Amino acid sequence: MNEKELQSYLAEASRDVEQALDRLLPMRQISPEAAIYFAMRYSLFGGGKRLRPALFFAALEACGAKRDAYLDVAAALEMIHTASLIHDDMPEMDDDDLRRGRPSCHKVYGPAMALLAGDGLFIHAFAVLSRPLPGAAPERQLAAVREIALRSGLGGMVAGQAAEWDNMTRPVDQGLLEYISRGKTSALLIAAVKAAGLLAGADGEKLQALDDYGLHAGLAFQIIDDVLDVEGDDATLGKPAGSDEERGLVTFASLLGCDEARRQAEAEAEAAVAALAVFGAEADTLRAFPPFFVSRRH
Ligand code: FPP
Ligand code: MG
Repeated sequence: MNEKELQSYLAEASRDVEQALDRLLPMRQISPEAAIYFAMRYSLFGGGKRLRPALFFAALEACGAKRDAYLDVAAALEMIHTASLIHDDMPEMDDDDLRRGRPSCHKVYGPAMALLAGDGLFIHAFAVLSRPLPGAAPERQLAAVREIALRSGLGGMVAGQAAEWDNMTRPVDQGLLEYISRGKTSALLIAAVKAAGLLAGADGEKLQALDDYGLHAGLAFQIIDDVLDVEGDDATLGKPAGSDEERGLVTFASLLGCDEARRQAEAEAEAAVAALAVFGAEADTLRAFPPFFVSRRH
């Protein structure tokens, strides 16, 4: 699959997941809590590449399952990701005013409502995930939900963010930086592809391959994120460039320099593709993502 084909795959995945999001989280304008619906939907429908849902769909394809029965799972992954970005941008964390090319949630709705919007999306995702999925064996669904919960929380994203936050003023080496990125970024990618494998009944060897793929693809993604923070501009990125340096954050770009960081991102992308050796052509869509993570401009 070439980059143009991947772009149209991403566009189709976005359409599917946005329809599901709209159905699972409809506007409730006439209610005392209307403000949280405005805030959640503002962030959910504010653009975004929808990479986690697209990776989930591609992993289903690799494991021989169709996406139609699992659209709600893709939507839940996007809710969790959006929740994490709302909280990440808040004044108490990265204090970033721009996200996906628009003012961050707390700039529009205030910090209290942004905090609640993140909480609301995070919890609603699990309300959605725990609804019986027609056609999915309950034990497979339970394993997928558990995978997503662990990787978004203390076995992944929350832990990575906490490790980043608590070590900001200490000397950070590449090992610690990788630990943080495995949690902050790789974990939810692993959750997306492994949840697909678990739902589709993939065997242990394939599940391990998906795990390795998500780990390396996530590292490639995060390294380039750090490089783009140095090399990119606000308009292209849709978020403030240079914010890592402004916060004095040690990143792959500041530690290695942009050229070496790019080389390491390429190596991680190759490792992600290599992890899929156990799959045949049915994983070609998955194979197209890591090189795109490296070549992307935003
Ligand atoms: C963006 O990283 C942030 C993350 C990938 C994870 C943030 C995680 C949390 C806030 C904890 C989990 C919270 C919930 C509600 C699930 P970055 O700051 O390097 O990237 P950026 O430049 O896009 O902000
Ligand atoms: Mg941030």
